Amino acid sequence: MDHQIDVMITEEAVDAKICELADQISKDYAGKELHLVIILKGSVFFACELAKRITIPVTMDFMSVSSYGDGMVSAGHITVKKELDEDIEGKDVLIVEDIVDSGNTLFHLKHLLEGRNPASLKIITLLDKPDRRVADVNTDYCGFVIPDEFVVGYGLDYAQKYRNLPYIGVVKS
Ligand code: IMP
Ligand code: MG
Repeated sequence: MDHQIDVMITEEAVDAKICELADQISKDYAGKELHLVIILKGSVFFACELAKRITIPVTMDFMSVSSYGDGMVSAGHITVKKELDEDIEGKDVLIVEDIVDSGNTLFHLKHLLEGRNPASLKIITLLDKPDRRVADVNTDYCGFVIPDEFVVGYGLDYAQKYRNLPYIGVVKS
């Protein structure tokens, strides 16, 4: 069954925001190399567009994690479903997320990666839904703060569909 999807953030607005974020990151990390840790699967579209616009040297690795719980009553920890290929020790690491909702995933992931002794560890998210936050997690770079609505597109899915939409949309049932 297809759903009606209303546009929340246009493709042009997302692209413009990603350019801004990439400029800021290129300045903040000037003279360094940046290692992107991209959280599968939702962050892939965002991460690629971001990486293309960053002007300092970038390396990329991928990780898949799942947090238990439904976000409301949430999870004590995360399970790593796909581990990073490379060590992050001594690297300037930027975790790339699609959306921060309860914050549980990032809270536990940040803790996990901090234990591996990166030179620095920051977080970028395309979207932030602060209304639903239960875990104490701060992002260093954020594209858009959005209201508490279920969004799809630009990598985000509803039951694995709609990741390929080039804009951020709201699913209307
Ligand atoms: P958190 O641990 O609750 O912050 O979960 C964040 C993860 O939940 C994201 O990486 C998404 O995979 C998923 N998620 C949260 N809100 C949405 C949404 O509105 N649309 C699609 N996926 C979402
Ligand atoms: Mg995700």
